[in-house]
Amino acid sequence: MLESLSTKVHDENRQGEAYAPLAVTTREYKKKFYIESYGCAMNFSDSEIVASILNDNGFGATGNYTEADLVLLNTCSIREKAEQTVRQRLHLFRQVKESRPGMLIGVLGCMAERLKGKLLEEERLVDMVVGPDAYRTLPGLIEEAETGQKAVNVLLSRDETYADISPVRLDSNGVTAFVSIMRGCNNMCAFCVVPFTRGRERSRDAESIVRECTELFDKGYREVTLLGQNVDSYYWMDEAADKVVTFAQLLEKVALIDPLLRVRFSTSHPKDITDEVLHTIARYENICNYIHLPVQSGSTRILQLMNRTYTREWYMAKVDRILSIIPDCGLSSDIITGFCTETEEDHQDSLSLMAYARYDMSYMFFYSERPGTLAARRYADDVPEEVKKRRLDEVVKLQNRLSLESNKRDIGKRVKVLIEGDSKKSAGDWRGRNNQNKVVVFSKEGGAYKKGDYAWVKVTDCTGATLIGSAVQGD
Ligand code: SAH
Ligand code: SF4
Ligand code: F3S
Repeated sequence: MLESLSTKVHDENRQGEAYAPLAVTTREYKKKFYIESYGCAMNFSDSEIVASILNDNGFGATGNYTEADLVLLNTCSIREKAEQTVRQRLHLFRQVKESRPGMLIGVLGCMAERLKGKLLEEERLVDMVVGPDAYRTLPGLIEEAETGQKAVNVLLSRDETYADISPVRLDSNGVTAFVSIMRGCNNMCAFCVVPFTRGRERSRDAESIVRECTELFDKGYREVTLLGQNVDSYYWMDEAADKVVTFAQLLEKVALIDPLLRVRFSTSHPKDITDEVLHTIARYENICNYIHLPVQSGSTRILQLMNRTYTREWYMAKVDRILSIIPDCGLSSDIITGFCTETEEDHQDSLSLMAYARYDMSYMFFYSERPGTLAARRYADDVPEEVKKRRLDEVVKLQNRLSLESNKRDIGKRVKVLIEGDSKKSAGDWRGRNNQNKVVVFSKEGGAYKKGDYAWVKVTDCTGATLIGSAVQGD
């Protein structure tokens, strides 16, 4: 039997909030769990691993927390605001629990790792605290919590990749899916809490990645996004072949599954993306010509304080290199305003670099000091909040202009669109994305398509966020 449910996804980085149907095959589950995900795609992908572990232990998913036996929040610590949102949700769930005392509340993910037992002790808001590398122990922790004990496991691992666990797809459109290829991060960007919450970097067995992508393709999925905090440092020793698999080789293996399977990846650290990767992207039509290449700041001085290990000029040369190998490559970025000691001149450097790279899209944030990070220990958070916000405003305005200009350059072009579903605004239109990751909307009247099909679309109009067009005959 197929059951239509919904879970809730809050994606800080994608700055969206999605409520989407989730189809699960229901066995007779004894109990129900509800999960909300916050933060990056990695967290979203982890929730799918958690769902799989819970399914195997008698818990079925529900989209309604008031009927759940187990309420889980998979949390993010990247900025203070992300943690505040979670705390508000926890207070709400605590109230629900007053009338349903048997209900268990668990905090998973990065906030669990950062705050550890504090959430249990100081505020008594939760029954369980489980860090990102401890999800296999969830069934035991639930049993402990059911007997009224405090259940905590925040041990980080050097080798856990959940490679053998088949994720249960949550909020799936049945066309696009995330596949984790590595965990953790060995970089030490001064502002960033991730190395503390996710632990050391480790790569997942290449064969298990290819298997998962093949299974997705066989189920009708047509796009996979390979996920890691720093995908270009993917490294897997294939013992049987006595050979190392690099990220470029992994991309190629996934691309070879089928030409109809689109391959994307996120995130690339500018310092690590190699020519080998760029040439692999250029060689395979189904590896999308799109790179998310977070710059963070356009000022060399700030980049050094951030410990990003590249300069403004080096980054610009990397953009040139990408465009020389993949001329139509889409580029997007992450930008932080108001990092410690940032001057007006540094800020202008960020603006001019954005204009140079002509990003199609950016995720933009003002700096939020995170306890324990290099920056929190070394530098004063000395840019006043109103200055951070004003600079953020300027960055957002510039990006809006760049996005619109970029989309306008596409008017008149024919683009290949993978159809993901109905347009959000009108059921008479399809919504999908082109090779460069731009959202494309076109009328259903132009041909007999279905979700998961590719369509050629002539772009006739645009907004800053969307290309608008109509279906035309393809190749
Ligand atoms: N691994 C990815 C990004 C991880 S976090 C990378 O290396 O690019 C996503 C984004 O959040 C970062 O790129 C950064 O722009 C932003 N971010 C991280 N820490 C932040 C902080 N303390 N304050 C504001 N933004 C932050
Ligand atoms: Fe954070 Fe830097 Fe690692 Fe990205 S590369 S997760 S920004 S430490
Ligand atoms: Fe947030 Fe953790 Fe991802 S801090 S951005 S959920 S790795």
